[in-house]
Amino acid sequence: MNQKYKPLFDSFSFPNGVSLKNRLVMAPMTNFSSNEDGTVTDAEVEYYARRSKGVSMVVTACTYVTRNGKGFKGEFGADTDEMIPSLRQLASAIKEEGAKAVLQIFHGGRECPPDLVPEGEIVSASDVQSERNSAKAPRALTGEEIEEIITAFGETTRRAIQAGFDGVEIHGANGYLIQQFFSPHSNRRNDKWGGSLEKRMAFPLAVVEEVKRVTAEHAKEPFIVGYRFSPEEPETPGITMADTLELIDALAGKNLDYLHVSLNDFWSKPRRGVEDNRSRMEIIHERVGSKVPVIGVGSLYSADDVIKAFETGVPLLALGRELIIDPDWVEKVETGREDDIETTLDLGAQSRLVVPDPLWQAIVNTPGWFPGVH
Ligand SMILES: Cc1cc2nc3c(=O)[nH]c(=O)nc-3n(C[C@H](O)[C@H](O)[C@H](O)COP(=O)(O)O)c2cc1C
Repeated sequence: MNQKYKPLFDSFSFPNGVSLKNRLVMAPMTNFSSNEDGTVTDAEVEYYARRSKGVSMVVTACTYVTRNGKGFKGEFGADTDEMIPSLRQLASAIKEEGAKAVLQIFHGGRECPPDLVPEGEIVSASDVQSERNSAKAPRALTGEEIEEIITAFGETTRRAIQAGFDGVEIHGANGYLIQQFFSPHSNRRNDKWGGSLEKRMAFPLAVVEEVKRVTAEHAKEPFIVGYRFSPEEPETPGITMADTLELIDALAGKNLDYLHVSLNDFWSKPRRGVEDNRSRMEIIHERVGSKVPVIGVGSLYSADDVIKAFETGVPLLALGRELIIDPDWVEKVETGREDDIETTLDLGAQSRLVVPDPLWQAIVNTPGWFPGVH
């Protein structure tokens, strides 16, 4: 191995004592490839196994915690106990290759396509339609329904434990339900779940507390609980960097094992809310300090991209598209072959790269999403 990259292969311990063999994590990526009934397919399990040898931890695609939270065609489910064998298949495939397996738990809220949810009924914090999705305005959840969804996040955590996962990642990012409660765009409530910045945090924090409670009750070994958030929203009103710094302070007091900052570009700069010319990641990392480990992500294609990001002090880095394009990314760096890493998608290599059809189709039909796809 080139000595320059050696720090990426130092082990790492989470606050709960779980140890990772290196600093490289697979980012959560939806693959659209699960069965209609919510169980995983062999093709998707093989896709994960192919990518679980080099990284120390794999965060799965998001999984819905209730049926009305299904956000993607071909998303797998974790909303009933019948799903536990399917979840176990996924956890085992990842762990057999040597990585820790973390289940990303999710509710799509107002971003759910109506044809994927019961009676086509879309729900969210308030009845404000999404600006990214013109399909349908949501219905505001009742107080009782909110409590049920919080409980469902806990129930899904129990299933993850029973299925053999090493942890869960709470998906509070990318505009889905948890973020919809934090956002002043989608949350116009005036009860205990909205009305002020503090109240907009109530749902995200209640989910964290429930997941932690269930973990304490059911996990026999230390179980990883992480939280993913997006630092800003483009909408007005929308989440600003200033809002996010407040959320971080609140999350940092919740005994989480990590915070995962969802970005497409690790070096992106704040849009609004702070007078600071540094990258969002650097500002967030400074705010978090040593309270909780942070995972950074976003367009880190080469080994040099990753080591440069690592030198900011962020202890863990996630690779998403990079591991679809080159499943041997980590092993290549580990064995001194970093110059052989593929950084653009080989459009003729679907079977060599072990990518299921629905994911492959989504990638090749979305120009500009992946390097090499025009
Ligand atoms: C195909 C695909 C599916 C994704 N699905 C999810 C998801 O289910 N949950 C999530 O939090 N982020 C998801 N993301 C975002 C990634 O986790 C990551 O933040 C983003 O791709 C930027 O990292 P990268 O440059 O390493 O790919 C997805 C990204 C891609 C490319």
